Amino acid sequence: MDDNPAVIPDQVMKGVTRRNFIKGVIAGGTVASSATYLFRASSLLGQQPSGLGERLITLNVNRQQRRGEVMKQETLAWTLRYKLGLTGTKLGCDRAECGACTVLLDDVPHYSCSILTHTVRGKKILTIEGLANPDGTLHPVQQGVIDEQGFQCAFCMSGFIMSAVGFLKTNPNPTRLQMAHGLSGNLCRCQDYDKILTAMMRGAENMRKA
Ligand code: FES
Ligand code: FES
Repeated sequence: MDDNPAVIPDQVMKGVTRRNFIKGVIAGGTVASSATYLFRASSLLGQQPSGLGERLITLNVNRQQRRGEVMKQETLAWTLRYKLGLTGTKLGCDRAECGACTVLLDDVPHYSCSILTHTVRGKKILTIEGLANPDGTLHPVQQGVIDEQGFQCAFCMSGFIMSAVGFLKTNPNPTRLQMAHGLSGNLCRCQDYDKILTAMMRGAENMRKA
């Protein structure tokens, strides 16, 4: 048998259409990639997806009581993404530098990668998934992003939006410079800052009109 994995033996291809074969490879590759990502994440973060030492706690997330088992060293970003399935909160640096993981705790922006989950019991946690109205109407800052098409890859978008929403609670009518200072804890790897700032300023305007 040929050792080259790119060579498909005839007997394997018998009864398999080329189209179905390719679809199978794509599906398999996706599963493998996801598994690799999850494994890598758990290794890098020093956190296991489940295991000993977990305690059942209740969190107020997006106006809902969510129960889950967490470890004492588990970060809020980890809990949100991998325990509660709220993957809108992104993990970039995982060390309090990029702001991709920003969520609101009692209306104040925080890096969820650098907060232990068990310490936020009793606080109101708001993630990007909880911003829109229950009827589907987007938050004015989210609408500002759509109005201005403010991001390129958008990996940093959730963090910027959550930071802007928190900042606008303290300063609803900022200058562009003030907004830039308010968002200075968020980084964009695509370096799309000018467009992002324009989108956030449009969001502020939308909020004042709302
Ligand atoms: S992932 Fe939390 S600040 Fe970068
Ligand atoms: S738009 Fe790509 S990281 Fe910000």
